Amino acid sequence: MLDQLPLLPADPILGLAAAARADSNPDKVDLTVGIYMDEAGVCPVFEAVQLAQRALIDEETTKAYMPAAGDPAFNTGIQKLVFGADNPALLAGRVSSIQAPGGCGALRIGAEVIAAAAPGARVWVSDPTWPVHIPLLGSVGLRFETYRYYEPASHGVDFDGMLEDLKQAKAGDVVLLHGCCHNPCGADLSIEQWGVIADMAEAQGFLPFIDIAYQGLGDGLEQDAAGLRLLASRLPEMIVAASCSKNMGLYRERTGATLFLCRDSASAEALVSQAQVAARRVYSMPPAHGAIIAGRILSDAALRANWQAELEAMCQRINGLRSELRSKLESETDRDFGFIEREKGMFSFLGLSKEQAQKLRAEHSVYMLDSSRINVAGVNARNIDTLARAVGQVLQG
Ligand code: LMR
Repeated sequence: MLDQLPLLPADPILGLAAAARADSNPDKVDLTVGIYMDEAGVCPVFEAVQLAQRALIDEETTKAYMPAAGDPAFNTGIQKLVFGADNPALLAGRVSSIQAPGGCGALRIGAEVIAAAAPGARVWVSDPTWPVHIPLLGSVGLRFETYRYYEPASHGVDFDGMLEDLKQAKAGDVVLLHGCCHNPCGADLSIEQWGVIADMAEAQGFLPFIDIAYQGLGDGLEQDAAGLRLLASRLPEMIVAASCSKNMGLYRERTGATLFLCRDSASAEALVSQAQVAARRVYSMPPAHGAIIAGRILSDAALRANWQAELEAMCQRINGLRSELRSKLESETDRDFGFIEREKGMFSFLGLSKEQAQKLRAEHSVYMLDSSRINVAGVNARNIDTLARAVGQVLQG
């Protein structure tokens, strides 16, 4: 029976990352998968993670299963990180969470809970969105509608189009929003625009589901959560998928959380019970290592300060790379790349065609997604000129 199954095409992101790894050109440039790389082209382990990890190895006394909702210190820490330590909803017990295997696990658990509350619910996703959103949420039977978001001509958010489309979202519908650092386009909503979304959610009754996988890599930990917190201050209910892959560099440790903002504390407790049952169906309980480390970092003042300083330096470096890349690209082409400086986080579209992105791979060993999404955090002093020159050549035909 199994031999009937065909070979599937490679994942559009991970497949290209594998192709870049396999390229023997010493001057190759890999801007595919969204991982932070330093000037040496290495995805570093945060010093706070190394310190917490060493202590954990010395102190760990068991490898027994984790509690169903995950590490308590991690849950407390991530709730405060996302909503803010003094958030009134948090203090009122209206927030609960479950540790999940990475941001993907968090999205899937959120989708499971939505499907339990409203089987077959419609989820509004931005056009474009991270391609994995669709299988992650769709596999539990949720349906999709898209709302206009990125406008290639202006390299910005088509906010009028977004509002026009979201006017059709009703009570019982879910609107998936990128909390910050939109993946794939890097174009974020302003705080005023978040306010308009809050007005609409209040008036129309749809449920926001916020993916905040990149908190801390746009403008900073607090600033990046400002839109989400504005919604939380106005709305009775919301689901958030958070991740420590990027902002703590815990990618392979699969460390994330699904957070529920509820009408009251009884509902917050009920939702965790729902999430636990959903997790039991899929993977039983979450992995320990990354969440225990993250929990220690979030609850220990010295580790936390160390982590935040390193994260801030990464964020500043990304923003510096955005400025440098803009000027290098503008000196190699006759195009305006000012949008790269305005966009946030790891990603931007360069505005190339699929053929041009493929030509960059084939002729220059410069790897970006077919959509021309680049991982800005993969740019460094050694590859920036190669990248800009290659883009210049491809644009000249
Ligand atoms: C990306 O978009 O490159 C990252 O979120 C990694 C992934 O799993 O796709």
